[in-house]
Amino acid sequence: MRAGIIPVKELISDAIAMVSTMFPKIRMRRLRQPGIRNLVAETQLSPDDLICPIFVDETIENSVEIGSMPGQYRVPLDAVADEAKEIKDLGIPAIILFGIPETKDEGAMSAYDDDGVIQQAVRSIRSGTDGLVIVTDVCLCEYTTHGHCGIVDYARETVLNDPTLPILGKVAVSHARAGADIVAPSGMMDGMVRAIRTALDIDGFTDTPIMSYSAKYCSCFYGPFREAADSGYAFGDRGGYQMDPANSDEALREVELDIAEGADIVMVKPAIPYLDILYRIKTAYQMPTAAYQVSGEYAMIEATAAMGWLDRDQAIYESLLSIKRAGADMILTYFAKDAARMLREDFGASTTTI
Ligand code: PBG
Repeated sequence: MRAGIIPVKELISDAIAMVSTMFPKIRMRRLRQPGIRNLVAETQLSPDDLICPIFVDETIENSVEIGSMPGQYRVPLDAVADEAKEIKDLGIPAIILFGIPETKDEGAMSAYDDDGVIQQAVRSIRSGTDGLVIVTDVCLCEYTTHGHCGIVDYARETVLNDPTLPILGKVAVSHARAGADIVAPSGMMDGMVRAIRTALDIDGFTDTPIMSYSAKYCSCFYGPFREAADSGYAFGDRGGYQMDPANSDEALREVELDIAEGADIVMVKPAIPYLDILYRIKTAYQMPTAAYQVSGEYAMIEATAAMGWLDRDQAIYESLLSIKRAGADMILTYFAKDAARMLREDFGASTTTI
């Protein structure tokens, strides 16, 4: 037989096999009928998947709405416990705290002050709300005058990696001392997980997990957050430490290093524009994996919904479901409270199908 020529008998049996696995025997729409579609749904969203951010502001007496994130507020210290309780009562298992301190300086001293804004907030939530997991964001940008995530060398206009590490260790320990359940370093310094793990262990916090913002991209989608957390930076950008959006293999290396340094949970951020990264990371490492649906993702949905251009609830549901389907075990989202309310009303399942 000459190469490249397929015997007629084989061709016919292939054709028969193909036809028998095709229309009209197979109709994919059979399983899309009401009720049945819920049985075969591969991804379920639950309030248990959600982590709700709270911005706590030491400088205010009453809650202030964040202009760039309509529906989101900075809350004063004495309201934070009530806010946390409301979140817990909605069935959301965890919060993540961001602080706006009274004072900022070059060395971010207020970030590791035992009476700092986060430390006070954690204590006040801890005393009032049992069973809520308190995650704290460990970063310097809200506490430095220049707004960068580490110690700055002004002459070289750069953020210094190694001098930042012991400070991050101190911040994490002070959060753990106040009662934080999980610390979440977000500054993208090399070696930050190792530095924090070492500092926590020396202080006896061997059981405090680290959720590392492992693959955090240098993204314009953080724009609205910077107004929320008052963490705009004085010069440069964060491209020297946050990841280049062009890269994907590099995200795997970041995650691998964080796992080796002792990260318990790894994170991808932002979420929707980086679902390919999330999928690769979950597939490669099978680690508990978080995704952060960031301020810009929130603002996009809010703004388009406000224009009447898309259905807000559907957009929230579909975006969160997609993040989960791509591989997230947990999602940090400003929609957490709305999503928990929707899910209680069985939102996804009750979608009418025709
Ligand atoms: C701080 C931090 C940022 C976000 C979370 N932690 C801002 C930044 O890195 O510039 C962004 C969160 C959001 O946009 O919702 N390092």
